Amino acid sequence: MILVTGGAGYIGTHTCVELLNAGYAVTVFDNFCNSNPESLKRVERITGKKLQWIRGDCRNRDELIAALKQSGASAVIHFAGLKAVGESVEHPLWYYDNNVIGTLRLLEAMQECGVRILVFSSSATVYGDPHRLPLAEDHPLSPTSPYGRSKLMIEEILRDVQHSDQSFQMGILRYFNPVGAHPSGLIGEDPQGIPNNLMPFVAQVAVGRREALNVWGNDYPTPDGTGVRDYIHVVDLALGHLKALEALQAAQRAQTSPFSGCLTVNLGTGRGYSVLDVVNAYEQACGRPIPYQVAPRRPGDIACFYADPQQAKTLIGWQANLDLNAMCASSWHWQSTNPNGYHT
Ligand code: UD1
Repeated sequence: MILVTGGAGYIGTHTCVELLNAGYAVTVFDNFCNSNPESLKRVERITGKKLQWIRGDCRNRDELIAALKQSGASAVIHFAGLKAVGESVEHPLWYYDNNVIGTLRLLEAMQECGVRILVFSSSATVYGDPHRLPLAEDHPLSPTSPYGRSKLMIEEILRDVQHSDQSFQMGILRYFNPVGAHPSGLIGEDPQGIPNNLMPFVAQVAVGRREALNVWGNDYPTPDGTGVRDYIHVVDLALGHLKALEALQAAQRAQTSPFSGCLTVNLGTGRGYSVLDVVNAYEQACGRPIPYQVAPRRPGDIACFYADPQQAKTLIGWQANLDLNAMCASSWHWQSTNPNGYHT
């Protein structure tokens, strides 16, 4: 049994699908502050399997202990957290409370219940402005927002806890830019309010919910002047969690610590695409023009950011397989069949 915190969210639901398909039993622990239980019904529809879910908050140790005991979980995948960079600048305490304190309470509950495997959702944002590209795991860590710093603080906590108790098997997964949706079109990203991120904004323009995309700057030192990112299909990302989990389980069975501390891997494709590359690929996928205008640079943005994905291949046998066309086609399938997300 795997306990999945934040399992009703965007990446969580896609990971639950892959866990259930692989034969794991799943209990979701979620406070639904930015998600909807409907997404879990969709997970059951896709897989034809049932999952358990518990409404609970990671800052509440007793609720976590009850969930771990009730489910009989042998491992935790920890997605629960806040993730909006701009909001984290406005309300840093929300981020340190939800993300950092929530993880502390989770670790205490795991210690109490003897659960020793944790896969954690980190972010490539922990690297900050790149000194060199592609970004490898040994790049210095210097996040530039409270959101990013909350992720880095959690990473440091995990490293300290694992160091103090070698029976803990921990995976730190640094995501690049997750996009796309399950090919069924039943689950996908369902942002509240105006999307901050590129692909959900483009999707809403395509479906007619928004008039035009603002391209934040076309004077970056990139081939077409717009920002370059490493977009990764959310299904590939979900499969990365499965591979990490399996590697940690194997290490636990062998009673070894093969990763010299926490298993730490980038989950990215290693390929960068510009904003205009994404717009063009999306136009192909949806068969409509995506109107856009060039606007000033967004503060805090950088020109170019993409992964060195080699370490994930070496350590957990994972690599991304789905390309930008598959990302856009699946995003469009989800967006066009659920124009208002789970509220349709
Ligand atoms: C952002 C976060 C990052 C987080 C990631 C999640 C910042 C600085 N970084 O990354 O911490 O982990 O989301 O996916 O916010 N763009 C437009 N118009 C738009 C939206 C975006 O031109 O309306 C451009 C951006 O300038 C950028 C690219 O699209 O070049 C990607 O932006 P976005 O999807 O927001 O991701 P990141 O900024 O890379």
